Amino acid sequence: MVQLTGPKKIKCAVFISGTGSNLKSLIQFSKKNNSPISIELIISDNSKAKGLKFGKIFKISKKVFNFKNKIIAEKKIISDLENKNIKLICLAGFMKILSKNFIKNFKGKILNIHPSLLPKYKGLNTHKRVLLNNEKYSGCTVHFVNYRLDSGKIILQKKVKIRKSETAKSLAKKILIQEHRLYPKAIKEVFNL
Ligand code: GAR
Repeated sequence: MVQLTGPKKIKCAVFISGTGSNLKSLIQFSKKNNSPISIELIISDNSKAKGLKFGKIFKISKKVFNFKNKIIAEKKIISDLENKNIKLICLAGFMKILSKNFIKNFKGKILNIHPSLLPKYKGLNTHKRVLLNNEKYSGCTVHFVNYRLDSGKIILQKKVKIRKSETAKSLAKKILIQEHRLYPKAIKEVFNL
């Protein structure tokens, strides 16, 4: 469990690969007085990630790393995180799988948001698989990251009802709205707030 020490906010890095709507909601949350975090760094594996624009908009440092050589990329990231005294990592639509070594370095300090009711539908294409299975509900989960994909301890979940006419696109949109509320709530939970 991450410990809050004193009145200072915990320095946090957010990892993204795409649109960054969760990043935006986390930045807005971090600016609230009652938020335990301040976002100091945005990291992406994708130089074309739309979410990188939030670095400029909110004046937060951003860095892109080429994950073709994961060992080298992660080494550089670890050094950047240490230099900035980052104590919490929030994966927000980050589509690379971090190595065991990386996770070991930040044990218990990496959170992820996943668009399903874990432990169901780990991995990719969740909405499509949920609909193919005629599920009545889906949702989103914030969890700690451990060595197994989408399998760490669950912090919070939010359930949404699936309509008869639901498509993967409409379901993704509906769940994303809930994700933006759930991630800040889960961070508060981590800090016992
Ligand atoms: C979100 O739905 C997030 O849960 C999902 O990608 C989307 C990113 O949206 N993450 C995963 O599927 C991780 N396996 P965003 O870039 O707008 O935050």
